[in-house]
Amino acid sequence: MRAAVLGVGGAVPASVITNDDLAARLDTNDEWIVRRTGIRERRHLVGDERLADLAAAACAEALEDAGRTAGEVDRVIVSTITPDAITPGVAPEVAGLLGCGPIAALDLNAACAGFLTALDDAAAAVESGRASCVLVCGAEALSRITDHGDRSTAVLFGDGAGAVVVAGADVGLGISAFTFGCSPQHAALLYAGRDERKLRMDGQQVYRHAIRRMVESTSAVLARAQLEVDEVDLFVAHQANARILETAAAELGLDRSRVVVSVERMANTSSASIPLALWQAQRDGILRPGARVLLAAFGAGFVWGAGLVGWKETEVLTGAEQMEQVVGRA
Ligand code: ACO
Repeated sequence: MRAAVLGVGGAVPASVITNDDLAARLDTNDEWIVRRTGIRERRHLVGDERLADLAAAACAEALEDAGRTAGEVDRVIVSTITPDAITPGVAPEVAGLLGCGPIAALDLNAACAGFLTALDDAAAAVESGRASCVLVCGAEALSRITDHGDRSTAVLFGDGAGAVVVAGADVGLGISAFTFGCSPQHAALLYAGRDERKLRMDGQQVYRHAIRRMVESTSAVLARAQLEVDEVDLFVAHQANARILETAAAELGLDRSRVVVSVERMANTSSASIPLALWQAQRDGILRPGARVLLAAFGAGFVWGAGLVGWKETEVLTGAEQMEQVVGRA
């Protein structure tokens, strides 16, 4: 038995901010933003809209897509650096909004690599028998920590939430070969401080390190899984900007048709970007059951990670069957 992804969901705020909207109040323009980043618009939560509502909507859609109910979920993990409150976290509220029982619910902060980290943790919990059905959500309201007067960062970030359902299945690939790393000596190149609470970065350094680490870690994942790059169906990486994705894919030898780019309409949504890209790819019909998906992420810390997912492979097990297999293995 392996942990597998059974369904995906996404949710974005209604308020759309186009490049022209930004150009109306900042010294920037659509041409510069599109050429340097690939971003055309982003979504922002406004007024008293809550991130927890967005996360719960994404989770509800993921459950429906997986054919599961809130009553079957026994753990909710929300990856976020922008929760509605310092405490409590977003995850308990999401569990409440969905109508789950009194289950485990926790937030996790690994910046833009948070969704991959949460996915790996969920897989470990399922494969060890500590959980049977886990909601893994990346949810961010980066507009809350953006300096909207700084053109070098204000154009880059957006809000949104994406989620997947993880449970046990008799499958080939499942959620496999994940690898993670960090380089804390680079913390000052990308951060939001406790007092100022605004994202600051050295864009060119981040760009350079992001490509290097994502290429290194995805290569390590392929080697561990004994797969050639030609055997990968889709590359879904953190959507920071289109040039990073294109350069990393080219270095890996992946042609553009296998690279998912959703940054155009969503901008950089940190840990929500990978599940939102998976959600969009499934809706666009380019992510189909059985696909081998290579994932990669890089963010503040620096932290990074990569892994493989067999998309919606079949032969799903019930909670009792999962437990039997875990006990039988012990
Ligand atoms: N509009 C117009 N001009 C701008 C803007 C803007 N929005 N922002 C910066 N400029 C100007 C700069 O002031 C500079 O002008 P100057 O030459 O007169 O000094 C010029 O454009 C070039 O600036 P650079 O910062 O050198 O531009 P660069 O080509 O590096 O692009 C960018 C900046 C897009 C941020 C790039 O460095 C990048 O993609 N970095 C990756 C980091 C990233 O995407 N971070 C997101 C968060 S981190 C993460 O998610 C992993």
